[in-house]
Amino acid sequence: MHGGVFPYRDFIGGDEMKAIVQDVYGPAGVLELREIARPAIGDQEVLVQVRAAGVDPGVWHLMAGEPYLIRVMGFGFRAPKVKVRGRDVAGVVAAAGARVTRFRAGDQVYGTCESGSFAEYAAAREQRLAAKPASLSFEQAAVVPISGVTALQAVRDRGHVQAGQQVMVIGAAGGVGSFAVQIAKASGATVTGVCSSSKAGLVRSLGADEIIDYTHDEIDCHGARYDVVIDTAGNRPLSLLRRAMTPRGTLVLVGGEHGGGRVLGGFDRQLLRAPLVSMFTGQRLRALTATEGAEDLAAITGLIDSGAVTPVIDRTYPLADAPDAIRYLAQGHAAGKVAVTV
Ligand SMILES: NC(=O)c1ccc[n+]([C@@H]2O[C@H](COP(=O)([O-])OP(=O)(O)OC[C@H]3O[C@@H](n4cnc5c(N)ncnc54)[C@H](OP(=O)(O)O)[C@@H]3O)[C@@H](O)[C@H]2O)c1
Repeated sequence: MHGGVFPYRDFIGGDEMKAIVQDVYGPAGVLELREIARPAIGDQEVLVQVRAAGVDPGVWHLMAGEPYLIRVMGFGFRAPKVKVRGRDVAGVVAAAGARVTRFRAGDQVYGTCESGSFAEYAAAREQRLAAKPASLSFEQAAVVPISGVTALQAVRDRGHVQAGQQVMVIGAAGGVGSFAVQIAKASGATVTGVCSSSKAGLVRSLGADEIIDYTHDEIDCHGARYDVVIDTAGNRPLSLLRRAMTPRGTLVLVGGEHGGGRVLGGFDRQLLRAPLVSMFTGQRLRALTATEGAEDLAAITGLIDSGAVTPVIDRTYPLADAPDAIRYLAQGHAAGKVAVTV
């Protein structure tokens, strides 16, 4: 997530667009489908005609204004500074700023935007976009950037996953987990996916060698076996996560601790407790705050083009039903990703 005000400067050609807008923080009921001005673009920005947008837990956080921590991080103290929700985007370039070199009108792109992607048009920085993988539909492409890049950075940059290692992905059927399983497998690791019973088939189809059904077994049921544990679910104490790891294993904390409260939202586990515990153990406990740049989008594109990674879409909602898409994702049990089509 990124702070700062997105200025709705001038209208482009005076045109308006439909968008999912909110004036105040709150539950999904605060979202409205409205006509607003199309975002204007700066010199290094691209105006994308949105075909599809991805839904991720960050959308809920920015809608609700929770944890309150995000309000002091620049997203708006009393009300959201950016009123249109959604960051993941896939679509067609409608216009490019004067200093944009990689894209021109008509190009199919995907990436993240700051003006809000639950809208007919979105403004995105050139550096946050890549060419849409040719093999993917707009819906498939739209769900990749945040979750795919987060998974890539968890596996590659924080986990340093190597061929032959034992890797556990907790929340293996979720948005980030479904990518992490595939990327760890493509790295040559033996992958154990932790999920509920009904998701076991999906997680195996993504390449997991073993499944731990968390409704029957706990993650340490095989002892201290895992070189890398990637936790996206956030509902286990550090002590339990560490028991599943080898003495020099690495824990990558992707999600905040579940039920962590409205102020810090469980991020204190990443920011305070994990670094503290790390000082007294041979195990490495690492927090991840992902940033989605063009280089990592290109790396994900490579994995998609090679067939190593395929996004999994659980449900697709039309723009007007974006609030329902957020409500569904917020239940925390999506099988893969949720998309909004525009
Ligand atoms: N650090 C970053 O930069 C970054 C970036 C993106 C997301 N995130 C965070 O990462 C977390 C996951 O995001 P997401 O998009 O993957 O969410 P998601 O799509 O809602 O997936 C959540 C997953 O958690 C699983 N789960 C629920 N209870 C569980 C339990 N007791 N044990 C194991 N798994 C359990 C669910 O599996 P079942 O359906 O099988 O129950 C589901 O697959 C969120 O907290 C999000 O905010 C962080």
